[in-house]
Amino acid sequence: MHSGWERNQIYNEDCLTGLKRLPDESVDLVITDPPFAIDFTPLRDNYKRHPHLVLGGYQEVKTVDYPDFTRNWMTQIRRVLKESGAAFIFSGWNNLKDILVTADALNLITVNHLIWKYQFGVVCKYRFVTSHYHCLYLCKDNKQRKFFHNARFSSDDRTATGRSKRYADLEDVWTIQREYWHGDMKTPTKLPGELIRKILAYTSEPGDLVLDPFLGSRQVAVISRESGRDYIGFEIVPAYFEFAKNRLAEMP
Ligand SMILES: C[S@@+](CC[C@H](N)C(=O)[O-])C[C@H]1O[C@@H](n2cnc3c(N)ncnc32)[C@H](O)[C@@H]1O
Repeated sequence: MHSGWERNQIYNEDCLTGLKRLPDESVDLVITDPPFAIDFTPLRDNYKRHPHLVLGGYQEVKTVDYPDFTRNWMTQIRRVLKESGAAFIFSGWNNLKDILVTADALNLITVNHLIWKYQFGVVCKYRFVTSHYHCLYLCKDNKQRKFFHNARFSSDDRTATGRSKRYADLEDVWTIQREYWHGDMKTPTKLPGELIRKILAYTSEPGDLVLDPFLGSRQVAVISRESGRDYIGFEIVPAYFEFAKNRLAEMP
């Protein structure tokens, strides 16, 4: 049982419980990748990973419970977010509708509907290969939210063929490769560091508090710390929590 909360801490806890301890309007940015409500275990072999390197126990939500589950955690996100804050919520296409419907019901403004295009590496014979995720960029107040247009490129930065690098970087389809972590232990799903770095650069400042209620391997906390942001997060599975804690302990 935890009490209180601290910046730069993660908690081995159900986020539906833990989020209630965070004060109203205390968080600058949410970056999160909630459970998808699909069964991951049978897919594991398809991902061409060695099962002994993938931590078991992934905590899923039943499809039938997904709308209530989504409403519960997103209500807390809205409460803890500052008026100047923003939330980036990743979703596969399967249960995207629940997140879209909930965002509208909670009066969150959709700033962008981003597509993260990645390589899946699985051949499908009878349908097209899934190679993208959705990422909703949401906010409470469109006038107060932060956006740093020149965060990564200036108008002078050009490719060899003269194209603007800044324009390309600001398009809403982001092609970023998955990280494989060959030979290392891993959780079944994780966001690439580059994806999180890009969100942090454009929409946050050093010292901002970044929340991930569904930490998994703790990518959001690790990259936030690397980028000089503060973090807080929750993970319900003890083995994932320990894995995440050790990753942070190894950081300089
Ligand atoms: C899709 S994964 C997140 C992966 C993460 N973005 C990363 O880069 O490693 C979702 C995570 O949420 C965790 N989870 C599921 N229900 C939870 C809950 N109620 N509270 C906290 N964590 C939960 C799962 O165990 C899983 O690790």
